[in-house]
Parts: sequence; structure tokens; C-alpha cells
Amino acid sequence: MSTFPVQTPQRTYCATVERGILERASAHLPAGTGKVFVVSTEDVWRHQGARLRRGLESFRHELLFLPGGEDQKRLAPLEILAGEMVRRGGDRSSLVIAFGGGVVNDMGGFLASIFMRGVPVIQAPTTLLAQVDAAIGGKTGVNLVEGKNLVGTFHQPLAVLIDPAALDTLPEREYRAGLFEVIKTGVIRSQPLFRMLADQSEQVLARAPEAVDYLIGESVRIKAEVVSADEREGGLRRILNFGHTIGHALEAETGYRRFLHGEAVAFGMRAAVYLAESTGYLSAEDSVDILEVIERYGPVPPLEGIAAEALLRRLTSDKKTVQGRIHFVLPVRIGEVTVVSGLDERLVLAAIWSALG
Ligand SMILES: NC(=O)c1ccc[n+]([C@@H]2O[C@H](COP(=O)([O-])OP(=O)(O)OC[C@H]3O[C@@H](n4cnc5c(N)ncnc54)[C@H](O)[C@@H]3O)[C@@H](O)[C@H]2O)c1
Repeated sequence: MSTFPVQTPQRTYCATVERGILERASAHLPAGTGKVFVVSTEDVWRHQGARLRRGLESFRHELLFLPGGEDQKRLAPLEILAGEMVRRGGDRSSLVIAFGGGVVNDMGGFLASIFMRGVPVIQAPTTLLAQVDAAIGGKTGVNLVEGKNLVGTFHQPLAVLIDPAALDTLPEREYRAGLFEVIKTGVIRSQPLFRMLADQSEQVLARAPEAVDYLIGESVRIKAEVVSADEREGGLRRILNFGHTIGHALEAETGYRRFLHGEAVAFGMRAAVYLAESTGYLSAEDSVDILEVIERYGPVPPLEGIAAEALLRRLTSDKKTVQGRIHFVLPVRIGEVTVVSGLDERLVLAAIWSALG
């Protein structure tokens, strides 16, 4: 078992990585908790529900399903669930357990933050991406037609329960998409993690428990550290956006359907590496190393039909673009990044072209 404290002005809590923790979930419910609402999807519940059901056996709980899928990450399903919570006896002493991938973690956390002006949430992530990233740090939200995650809150959970055994049923493509976020973590802040991904790809891809537990633990340690230093993304937390600036543009341009989030991040990392090397921030050697590791955990689905100019236009309308200045997180060496803005648009366009292959 590994436990990582997350210390934010809003709350201090632990992200715990432990095989079998879901089956001991009730140990993490505070005394005096009223009705527990498990928010999940039918898909996640079919694959992994038995574990959490065993963990909550002694606790009265209600099960609520979201539709699931990035295109259903919208406000409307939350209104339906909130109404259901009221009808099933929810009140201010209620607690939400968000049990699923990043979509469920973001939506369940958001629902908890607005239900009766806020009830606690426990995050129980079941995809690799959610275990290493989405479930930690308190960012919640939903998409608007106008863009991704444009409505949301900061609502830190009471606890994050990470059970690597829950990944056993995760489809291969989802697992690889999560690995791209792990590569991101290595590049921004952990050379040992990056080296492990480079040297032990067979074990990682075969989901050998020792390899999986290490990469989750190291990623969670870093996410917890970064969020503790900067809850609201005023400074250090921005480094987590490595690969995300251009990745978000790709997701938006393709209607959030063609690429998984992690795959879009892989694309964005390729472009950022090109930018870093061509501006002299990153050595050619490190650039090749990063691109090779991304390749090893690929493939990223084919990119034909996507216009570089369209992605550039999307960049300027991203919510992280402040007053027209696009910020890029660029690696300076493996394990360290810097935030850069004001890059020449022609250079950005060339980076996108290069990532489009
Ligand atoms: N809040 C944050 O800080 C943060 C950070 C990164 C990403 N995110 C968000 O996370 C979302 C993406 O999350 P995701 O990649 O987990 O996608 P997801 O939640 O859509 O889950 C992917 C798929 O895996 C299935 N699934 C989940 N767990 C499973 C399991 N154990 N076995 C079998 N199938 C399982 C789901 O039903 C779904 O079909 C995006 O909306 C993104 O914005 C949020």
C-alpha cells in the first residue's frame, strides 16, 4: 500500500494506491455519513461493481448511473441524478462515491460539489487515466457545446481510493491512452518513471502487477505533490498541461469522438517536443528518446483529414489561452519542463504539421 497526502487550502486528504482497496471502501467513510450515493455507469458497474459492492456491504447505499462517454459529459444528466438523489432521501449528510473513469470522476465530483451546495465526494477511479490523473486534485466539471470542461468547480475529495486490480478489465486502447498520461508525468517530473517506461515496456504492456503498481504510485506521488503546491493552476500545476494545449485542440476539432484524451495528449506531446527542440530548449537526443517512448505505447489513431491551420485556430480559443497568448509546456530535459508563451505562430504551425506526420 502507498499513501500520498494532498494538501490544499480547501482540504487535506490521501490518495491511496492499494490492491483490493475497493473491497475495503467502507473503512474510508467518515463517521456520521448519511446516505451514500455511488455514481457510476452501467459499463463500469458490470465490469467492476462487485468489488465496490463487497466494500460497501455494511453500508446502506444507492446506485446511480450516468450515461458515460465524453459526449455525454454534460450538465443535463447531472440534473437528472440530483433529482434522483433527493427522491432517494439524499440530504446534506449524504456522500458521493464517484466510481468510474475520468468522465465519472469529473461529473460525480461536480454533482457532489453542487448538490445541496456541496456534499463530500470520494473518488474511486477505474481507468488508468483517472487513477494517475483525473481523480486527484479536485477539478470537476462538464463540457459545453462551446468547449471542453468549461463549467466546473474545484471540489477536493475526502479520499482517493486507487485499486490497480480494477484495471484488469480495462480495454487495451483505454489502457494505452492512460499510459500516455504516465509518459507525460515522467517527462515533466520523473526521470526514473520515464526510464522505467522505456526499459520495461513489455511488462508494462502485459500489465505485470509490479510494473503497474510502480507506475501508478509514482504518477500519483507527482500529481499529489504538484496539486499540493498549486491547487488552482496559478503556477506549478500548469506543468501538468504538457501535451494538452495542442491535444485539446485536436479533441475539439474532431468532436471528442475520434481520439481518446490520452491519445490526443500523445499527439500534443509530439508537437511540444518538436517545438522544444526547434526553439533550443531540448536536446535532439532527449527529443528522440521521448518520441520513441510515445511510439512504443502507440499507436495514435490515424490523423488524416486534419488541417494544421484548423488546430491552430482552436488553440487561440482554448480556455487556457489568456488574452490571446498561448502557453506551451516544453521539456528542457527528461524530468523537467518550462512554460513558454509568445511563440511565433509559424513555428507552432510547423510543430503541428510535424506531429500530424
Ligand atoms: N479532473 C482532472 O484533473 C482531469 C484530468 C485528466 C482527465 N480528465 C478527464 O477525464 C476524462 C477521460 O477519462 P477516461 O480516459 O478515464 O475516460 P472514460 O471515463 O470515458 O472511461 C473510458 C472507458 O472505460 C470504461 N471503463 C472504465 N473503467 C473500466 C474498467 N475498470 N474496466 C472496463 N472498462 C472500464 C468506461 O466505461 C469508458 O467506456 C476526460 O473527460 C478528461 O477531461 C480530468
